[in-house]
Amino acid sequence: MTHNATLPLPGPDRNAGEDAPPLMTSRWRDSDASVLPRLMPEQGRAAVDLQAHLERFGPPPYRGAPGTLIGEVEAAGLTGRGGAAFPTYRKLAAMAAGRGPAPVVVGNGAEGEPASNKDKTLLWFSPHLVLDGLQLAAEAVGSMAVGLYVHRNPWLYERLEVAIAQRAAAGLDAAQVELIEAPPRFLAGERSALASKASGGPALPRFKPLHASQRGVAGRRTLVQNVETLAHLALIARYGAAWFRSAGTRDEPGSMLATLHQADGPTGVVETTLGTPIADLLRLPARAVLVGGYHGAWLPGAQAERLPLANAALRPLGAAVGAGVLAALPGDRCGLAETARVVRYLALESAGQCGPCFNGLPRMAGALEELAGPRPGPRARPDLERWSGLVGGRGACHHPDGTVRFVRSALRVFADEMDHHARGSCTGTSGRPFLPLPGETPLDDADWR
Ligand SMILES: Cc1cc2nc3c(=O)[nH]c(=O)nc-3n(C[C@H](O)[C@H](O)[C@H](O)COP(=O)(O)O)c2cc1C
Ligand code: SF4
Repeated sequence: MTHNATLPLPGPDRNAGEDAPPLMTSRWRDSDASVLPRLMPEQGRAAVDLQAHLERFGPPPYRGAPGTLIGEVEAAGLTGRGGAAFPTYRKLAAMAAGRGPAPVVVGNGAEGEPASNKDKTLLWFSPHLVLDGLQLAAEAVGSMAVGLYVHRNPWLYERLEVAIAQRAAAGLDAAQVELIEAPPRFLAGERSALASKASGGPALPRFKPLHASQRGVAGRRTLVQNVETLAHLALIARYGAAWFRSAGTRDEPGSMLATLHQADGPTGVVETTLGTPIADLLRLPARAVLVGGYHGAWLPGAQAERLPLANAALRPLGAAVGAGVLAALPGDRCGLAETARVVRYLALESAGQCGPCFNGLPRMAGALEELAGPRPGPRARPDLERWSGLVGGRGACHHPDGTVRFVRSALRVFADEMDHHARGSCTGTSGRPFLPLPGETPLDDADWR
């Protein structure tokens, strides 16, 4: 089954030869030239092959014993870049201290969120930094069972196979890495879905999940870290906590990758420092800004213009940095229509295992479609609010919670637009879809595999 993404996925550039970068822009902020790029290749350089990687960074600095890297990661203040910003050292320490057979370690590069491209871009440009991080995280928790879970893309897969083979030939890897294909589904990267897929099952969240850290791949304790988190960890192991903290804010240190959707069209992945003004990343003003992707939140454009890309500023407003998706809604699009399209997609992506999610999300999508149309009925908005309350917190995974967050933010930010629709008008003058969604080919159950 094919799955067309709106954004081009990594692949060889037919005009520039085999080793060309993927068909998407990638850059870092010029004002940060002294500290960036950390993860991406240096300016003007192509994707990093093993030789270039070793010239720039040297071999992975193994510590020779489990546990010894964890204090440095704690001092660095590294948090997960997969969306939740959970302190990485706490997961490493819990895994290292656990009893029983050695844990499994998996790098999560599923990136099923259609609006995000940062992990595919990182794996394409800097695969060895991720692979170094995987080895170093495995050593830190005493594991020799290592996997890399990657969004289904034949070019990326092949590139990673080559990278892993080159490292094996050079004797760089302590543990052999197994590549695991992630189906292109929104939920495929959720940690219990990952554990199921890596155990030979479908990439579906577990109905009654034991935390993946306790019972993950093949029933073993499993550490799941986002691939970008692993790349940062590989640099912290080399340059230390103080270096890592020399970028970003005191509470949210370091750099991060962000996928930007500009109102006037272009989309790209940038490396930026945490705390950077959103106005430095997006070309504003915009009607509204989506922060954190499809489990994230809309903010009014004028408000987003004054905010930094940092959880300390965003969380009090019901938003979060998440996995770094930022989208500036063009002035000619209707935010309600955009939200309704995405919520319909999210409803179809429900794994259908929990009643409130399976039944509630399609109803919410229907109510939003009514609100996005002309002269919605009086029940649509109260029904939507009621279903949001019934669905949130009632699933085996966080899919309904993230969807409710997205919907509630739309109700807040597009309240004026709802008044227009109630009067039979709409301020959007273009019906052209803006936020990226997978293609029109319907997905079926086989796509979970
Ligand atoms: C619906 C859903 C989808 C997710 N997709 C991804 C993903 O594609 N990649 C990822 O790294 N984490 C994803 N996560 C988060 C993972 O469950 C997990 O927390 C993360 O991989 C841990 O890595 P980190 O601590 O380095 O961020 C998803 C979570 C949910 C609820
Ligand atoms: S909450 Fe929804 S997406 Fe998550 S496991 Fe249950 S049915 Fe599937």
